[in-house]
Amino acid sequence: MNKQITLTINGEARAVEVGPTDILLDVLREKLGIKSPKIGCERGDCGACTVLLDGKSVRSCLILAIEADGHKITTLEGLSRNGLTPLQESFLKHSSFQCGFCAPGIVLSATELLAKHPHPSEEEIKESISGNLCRCTGYKPIIEAIAAVSNARRKSV
Ligand code: FES
Ligand code: FES
Repeated sequence: MNKQITLTINGEARAVEVGPTDILLDVLREKLGIKSPKIGCERGDCGACTVLLDGKSVRSCLILAIEADGHKITTLEGLSRNGLTPLQESFLKHSSFQCGFCAPGIVLSATELLAKHPHPSEEEIKESISGNLCRCTGYKPIIEAIAAVSNARRKSV
């Protein structure tokens, strides 16, 4: 039986009717028009569908929409409402992505990391994006861009 749930998406409360087996990724994309979470493996392996749920990165292909009822979701669309974040600027500067399919998930995973650890080690950076597959870049320009945000923060204090 369908149920109406409310998701606070990028700061805006959105009511949506979902079925008991509807996946959060599908509801975001098909019912709410939020297209940045990508459909990849749909089994938790690639991280293309990553969103932040109450600030924590999760794979939206593994979560039922009803489990997210009442929770806050941040997607790439919500990060850049007031312009690109320093992290997004850094990814651009370092030409971190090629096809860009992995980018929304990696931006969100790295956003979570930098919110928790302003100055992460290289190991922590690698760990934070270990669930996000990128077929194009070899990860080096991605890791460099995240580290550059940390370094810039050090210089500014
Ligand atoms: Fe969700 Fe791959 S589509 S982890
Ligand atoms: Fe193509 Fe990462 S830039 S998958």
